[in-house]
Amino acid sequence: MGLEIESNMLNLEIAGISLRNPAILASGFLGISQAIFERIFDEGAGAVVSKSISKYPMEGFRNPTVVVLENKSYINAVGLSNPGHESFYEEVSTNDKVPLIVSLVGSDPSDFEVMTKKFNKSRIIGFEINLSCPHVQKLGMEVGDDPQMVKSIVKAAKSNTTKPVFVKVGIGNTNLIDISQTAINAGADGITAINTIRAMKISIDNFNPILSNKIGGLSGSSIKPIAIRCVYELSKKFSVPIIGCGGVSNWEDALEFMIAGATSFQLGTAMGFDGMSIFNSINSGILKYLKKKGYQSVKELIGRSHKY
Ligand SMILES: Cc1cc2nc3c(=O)[nH]c(=O)nc-3n(C[C@H](O)[C@H](O)[C@H](O)COP(=O)(O)O)c2cc1C
Repeated sequence: MGLEIESNMLNLEIAGISLRNPAILASGFLGISQAIFERIFDEGAGAVVSKSISKYPMEGFRNPTVVVLENKSYINAVGLSNPGHESFYEEVSTNDKVPLIVSLVGSDPSDFEVMTKKFNKSRIIGFEINLSCPHVQKLGMEVGDDPQMVKSIVKAAKSNTTKPVFVKVGIGNTNLIDISQTAINAGADGITAINTIRAMKISIDNFNPILSNKIGGLSGSSIKPIAIRCVYELSKKFSVPIIGCGGVSNWEDALEFMIAGATSFQLGTAMGFDGMSIFNSINSGILKYLKKKGYQSVKELIGRSHKY
């Protein structure tokens, strides 16, 4: 482990949480085991987001659930498989080391009430509410497209925890700015943008859609320009922190998100291609850039594109 991840130049705060660096593991990647959270943290991540956790266990879809594309991209329809909140609470009960954000998914405000109340007692640093999974009915995006539901869910979560609550948005049927505004008005401490984007892959040999669910969500480098645009628009409009996500695969991508207005960034797909060492290589790339350009802190870069 290099010195890079501990450098003061990379320290920052999001919604009152201090992070040693801005590189966060996105939800859904190796995200249900405390032992793996610790490994990812040791490899240099500034924080880790869990797989989205529901009130009760979910099995997810049958295989194939992931298509690997060229250009460091996936289409996935995993189906939010997770062990349920009681079991995951036990899993992270020993956590005293990893800055862990628990991602929650549910279909109505009472699910979020129960889960935030429970995890508020654990040593996690915050919550991310997944209002944007694009391929599971009655969860994720279907909930996130309903402004009244978004308001009630964020209020339910906020009134049961003292920890920061981030809301994860995506490219759904509702305008991104409007739904983020609703979440912020209801008390969200920050916005994570974006989730995967609805997509398909079809075989030209047997004419089948490849995924068992047929439609999945596109992630990785293919969605980066869209994610950058979303972060730029959200951060110009709102003063809460925006966490950029979608196609970060090297330090240049990471900096682009911060210059677009992200306070920190998440990555997932690129770790699938390049392994956990990506966190340290991104952090060292950013640090070298800061030193070369004469900046004191990565915070100086946040939103630098807004003047133009
Ligand atoms: C296999 C897989 C599983 C995912 N699971 C979740 C999830 O449980 N909750 C969630 O909010 N996002 C989930 N995502 C979306 C990612 O967190 C992220 O928003 C998206 O992949 C874009 O970032 P990336 O290009 O760095 O992967 C998943 C993505 C993939 C590829």
